[in-house]
Amino acid sequence: PVPPAFTTAMPVPPVLRPLSSTGDVDVYKLTIRRSTAEILPGTATDVLTYDGHFPGPVIQARSGRRVLVRHHNDLDMPVTVHLHGASVPPPYDGNPMDVFAPGTSRTYVYTNRQPHASLWFHDHAHHMEAEHVYRGLTGTYLLTDELEQSLPLPKGQYDVPVTIRDARFDEQGQLAYTMSDRNRTTILANGKPTPYFQVAARKYRFRLLNASNLRLFALGLSDGTPLTQIGSDGGLLERPVAVPALVLSPGERADVVIDFSRHPVGTRLVLTNSGPGRPDQVGKVLRFDVVRKADDPSSIPKVLRTLPPATALPKAAVTRHIALSMDEDGRPDPRGFINGRLYDPDRIDTTVAFGSSEIWNVTNTNRRIAHNFHLHLVQFRVLERGGLPAGPTEAGLKDTVRVAPGETVKLHVTFDAFRGDYVYHCHMLDHSAMGMMATFRVR
Ligand code: C2O
Ligand code: CU
Repeated sequence: PVPPAFTTAMPVPPVLRPLSSTGDVDVYKLTIRRSTAEILPGTATDVLTYDGHFPGPVIQARSGRRVLVRHHNDLDMPVTVHLHGASVPPPYDGNPMDVFAPGTSRTYVYTNRQPHASLWFHDHAHHMEAEHVYRGLTGTYLLTDELEQSLPLPKGQYDVPVTIRDARFDEQGQLAYTMSDRNRTTILANGKPTPYFQVAARKYRFRLLNASNLRLFALGLSDGTPLTQIGSDGGLLERPVAVPALVLSPGERADVVIDFSRHPVGTRLVLTNSGPGRPDQVGKVLRFDVVRKADDPSSIPKVLRTLPPATALPKAAVTRHIALSMDEDGRPDPRGFINGRLYDPDRIDTTVAFGSSEIWNVTNTNRRIAHNFHLHLVQFRVLERGGLPAGPTEAGLKDTVRVAPGETVKLHVTFDAFRGDYVYHCHMLDHSAMGMMATFRVR
């Protein structure tokens, strides 16, 4: 039932309006509920949603201004909501064990005491997170600040969130979920299969999010021109980078600017994927159709922000070694491990001192299986990948980093925001559901 590529239009997810906006706080109310979405033309597909939207809606927030989200759980299973990339105290972090029951509500308070960033929120109920996210429980949270607003980047309708993921549909057009499924070969952009998107001949900013459970994307443009990446997980890069193949592992974000003014009206430009998989199945993500001319007052500054150079980061008090692994002997129920241990919510795996900085060397000890690594609470810096300095696309603030088989990434992390217990895990959610998760305590 999957239609040919470029036959459906890509929607832009709706921006939620606050229920109330007083003083320094915006209040939202969302219901987590089952719904149906027309993903494939003419087919109603069962999905799990935040307020009926697939993919989820957009919350716009501003640094220094609080956001309260009251979630009502209208499902028949417990849920928890994690704001990925946010610096929040433990009660609002959406810890995998901190679930709220069917029929109940939970209010999450986000103080937004951090700089601008393209964040996202998703379900995190332990053992169910992978399937819940797969079935639709994701949403976009765009945090902005004065610095970002002062830049002449594309704004408003020219600043478009694009959630990319894969899926597999059964004969009835329903989302099929099994763990570690290698046949999720339908690529969805904002919930539609390989859609088209009509654009004006000017610059656009796209907030790309890889919301897949397992799939790595390597994104490019069909005319061979590089993408201009301006941001990553934790906000803008210091300067724009030309990237021929932009690699995004699950949970990672990249802000890119594409200038369609180089192309005459009538041009069709495909966002391609050269990541793992057969190109005839997963090689196309969406098509931009240049349909009209437009003025373009936007520009990309040569310097977007400044960050302390790797050499000027606070001195690390501790160096840790984190090994990610999972069974790769072909057993039907592979387990996931961090430093050889399965996730146990009652165990504190790592204790860090409040206010300190640490080096975390994260190694993927598998031979064939890719992983990545996400820490709650913090935005870290990637110092090295495979012993070499991290490339320019990873030079900004990051909360999720890919780790190829056999590879080690060296991270610099500062724990100066909140005390308490948080998790770290592989964000290939099928893997964290298999146990590749652990708890750190900031004390
Ligand atoms: Cu995006 Cu612990 O997750
Ligand atoms: Cu993994």
